[in-house]
Amino acid sequence: MEPILPGAPWLIAHRSMLGVNKPHKITLNAQDYVIWQNQQGEIFAINNICPHMQAPLSDGWVCQERDTITCPFHALEFDGQGRLYQKDKQDTQPITKPLKLVISNDCIWTYAGFEPKLPIPDLHQRIVDEYEFMGVSGEKSIQGDLLSNIMVNYDYNHQNGTHKELFKITSCHVTSFEENGYYATVKQDLARANNKLGEIIKNPILGILPKNLSNTLEYSFPSTTVFFTKTPIGKIAQTHILYPETEKRTKTFILMYAQVGNPLMKFLFKNSVLQAAATVIEQDTGAVESLYPRQKPKIRLPNEEIMFYAEKLYRNW
Ligand code: FES
Ligand SMILES: [Fe+2]
Repeated sequence: MEPILPGAPWLIAHRSMLGVNKPHKITLNAQDYVIWQNQQGEIFAINNICPHMQAPLSDGWVCQERDTITCPFHALEFDGQGRLYQKDKQDTQPITKPLKLVISNDCIWTYAGFEPKLPIPDLHQRIVDEYEFMGVSGEKSIQGDLLSNIMVNYDYNHQNGTHKELFKITSCHVTSFEENGYYATVKQDLARANNKLGEIIKNPILGILPKNLSNTLEYSFPSTTVFFTKTPIGKIAQTHILYPETEKRTKTFILMYAQVGNPLMKFLFKNSVLQAAATVIEQDTGAVESLYPRQKPKIRLPNEEIMFYAEKLYRNW
């Protein structure tokens, strides 16, 4: 396939998703890579195809002493630079390709070998300067192309449809939309109906989420959408990540950041907020996966400009 948005910085994982000495498979623009982290927190990634007889290295295992990945087929070992490891002689030349990574605030970014066209968004730095990391939620491989997924994130008319269930959103009013190249900000006022007691017991965040929410959304095209909101016990920066796995599949996950003063509250808040975020992803996934092929719209809703702004960035890349 033609690579999607070559030169974009893609956030392929958060450090906390990797564990220690465990191989993971990452698919980006139809290329498979194996990625692993050692005990010291160093992270390595190489092409997942074994250069001997093309077994998937991610099904192999990591050697803790040598920081190598062992192929599951004939147990050859490769280091993080793609060099074959042999007992008595150390190869100097890589025989398979390493994936160049940029690690910033525990986020693992890559340009997948393309010339960088955009910097790593500073939006992420601003969040970690102010908020504390709570965890990852809603990790999912969605049956749907990147553009459809981007457009859902930039579409704020879907809240009272897609997110009606559970969040009881009844209206969404956009008060401003500003764009500056690949970066955009939106201010919105959401109104919610009451949740049932049973729903609150299952998902306590629903009990503290105000009926009227004033949110800010910040967009760093194409990888990141951040939803900032305030609840009576703390502030949230819910960071949605997207990257293209293949032409037809898109990876997503949420990095949840929050600012909560009280430690007990933080503990209770954390699980509830992560659970609610996973529900948001389920709902958005359902929306994308159930779409029929796109046609020229016969109806326009107000405030759809931002969606077409994002589409234009994509098409004019
Ligand atoms: S296929 Fe990997 S070692 Fe043979
Ligand atoms: Fe959504």
